Amino acid sequence: MHNDVEKVLYSEEQIKTRVAELAAQIRRDFDGQDLLTVGVLRGAVMFYADIVRELDMPLHMNFMSLSSYGASSRTSGAVRIQYDLEEDIAGRNVLIIEDIVDSGLTLSYLTKTLRSRNPATLKTCCLFDKPERRQVDFSADYVGFVVPDVFIVGYGLDYAEKYRNLKYIGELKREIYE
Ligand code: IMP
Ligand code: MG
Repeated sequence: MHNDVEKVLYSEEQIKTRVAELAAQIRRDFDGQDLLTVGVLRGAVMFYADIVRELDMPLHMNFMSLSSYGASSRTSGAVRIQYDLEEDIAGRNVLIIEDIVDSGLTLSYLTKTLRSRNPATLKTCCLFDKPERRQVDFSADYVGFVVPDVFIVGYGLDYAEKYRNLKYIGELKREIYE
């Protein structure tokens, strides 16, 4: 275990199992339909790569990048698109794949923005949800794990750009981010 990690919350194995369950649910819901998956860079990259392979159905892959926290464990409140889709989503089934919903600001902004482009359907899939920290009303359509109000790292999630390549999800020691 990494020195800065207080404890492992989800092992590689537990993540793998839950990702497969989410994929099965999504596959059932979109059976026979065309699907455009949109991964939110960079935190969702591991989750995205794993879930699209579990989906085992024809789909399109694309990415967006939104402004993130920087070296802070709290949101600045302002969300900005850094890298946008360069394709038309009107009339398509769009599934956003994100790492975590915390204050809800990022995903409420992103879903509002994409909805204004008139997709046929717009759904959100998040591996983690921290409902205690919500600042705006937002709920994802697919959620992997509901987590308590602690800062988590690994499997794509970072603190100040570190720990993204840990294979497990760890709770970061408070002294690192406070
Ligand atoms: P929100 O806009 O507050 O919902 O925050 C969403 C973004 O904050 C996520 O996409 C993550 O990049 C980041 N974030 C929130 N909580 C955590 C955490 O516990 N660990 C790592 N990143 C987090
Ligand atoms: Mg993110």
